[in-house]
Amino acid sequence: MAFSDGQADFRSDTVTRPTPAMRSAMASADVGDDVYGEDPTVNALEERVADLLGVEAALYVTSGVMGNQIAINLLTSPGDEIMCVETAHVRNHENGAASMNSGVAFRTVLTDGGEISTEIIARLTSEAGYHLPSITLLSWENTHNYSGGTVVPFDVFSAGSEAARSHGMRVHLDGARLWNAAVASGVGLATWTGVADSVQVCFSKGLGAPIGSAICGSVDFVEQARVVRHRLGGAMRQVGVLAAAVDVALDDWERVGDDHDLATELAIGLAERFPESVNSSPETNMVLLRAEGCPVPLETVQSALGDAGVRVGFMSPTMLRFCTHRDVDSADVKRVLGVVDMLVSDLPTNR
Ligand SMILES: Cc1ncc(COP(=O)(O)O)c(C=O)c1O
Repeated sequence: MAFSDGQADFRSDTVTRPTPAMRSAMASADVGDDVYGEDPTVNALEERVADLLGVEAALYVTSGVMGNQIAINLLTSPGDEIMCVETAHVRNHENGAASMNSGVAFRTVLTDGGEISTEIIARLTSEAGYHLPSITLLSWENTHNYSGGTVVPFDVFSAGSEAARSHGMRVHLDGARLWNAAVASGVGLATWTGVADSVQVCFSKGLGAPIGSAICGSVDFVEQARVVRHRLGGAMRQVGVLAAAVDVALDDWERVGDDHDLATELAIGLAERFPESVNSSPETNMVLLRAEGCPVPLETVQSALGDAGVRVGFMSPTMLRFCTHRDVDSADVKRVLGVVDMLVSDLPTNR
């Protein structure tokens, strides 16, 4: 359902607002000083997350960026390179944090859908020599945001990770939307995490919690992560008030499947109207409208939707993103399609 001001916000799944149950859990949360390790709600949440993800330990951190940056800091050395897809969040959307905080650069791979093959890994690592930077970390993003929430298939993920390890690399998974990947693929959370040295999951996207992520791995890794989090200024005090909302969000994490169904409903409708510009079968909760083949300029689509109280994300000059989440519904999808119908009916008939 749209927000109380009538806006239907499809820009991102980060726009969700805490539910009444989350707010009430926040108000009554049992808290302590988490820097002393004494916040019972945070401690319980970290244990719950570790169990759910099948990892030894988890640490609650402020954001996905912080979780990724802690992992990068611990799994690389200055001067190293990180292998990732060219459009990875860790490279493009974290304000150069990896270079600034950890002194590393990126070796990027141009592929669709977030996939990196064993052949590419073998080729790029075989180029290593004493005068070349060492590629020491393979960083996956699953689901892959920029490709429209695509799932890196488990066999690709697992074979690539094994290949990376055989070349002395470690493996990080930016699983901001691992929940979506697990539901869409039917491959359980613990199966995905079992392949990686570190995993970052976000609670503030499809799960709808207001703040936070977890960075997960071995007990030893998480001990060190606690130190880096402190160094980055991310150690918090009575943060159980936030962890309590996450706890509620985790009760029905698999509800992200509803977002996938809604994205499919929207994609089918958009593809009927703009068949050359929309894939009618999104894999998770994102639908991309591409400028190529679209008879209406994307700016016009965005502005007409805006006039009707619908917000969409401008991913690039050639791509609009509609992201579904718990605060939009079928009525909002109909609103989008109504606007698009109006735009299509305005087009000259002899195009
Ligand atoms: C794939 C991916 N990784 C990491 C992040 C960063 O999360 P946060 O905004 O919590 O820092 C995002 C945010 O949208 C994301 O899409």
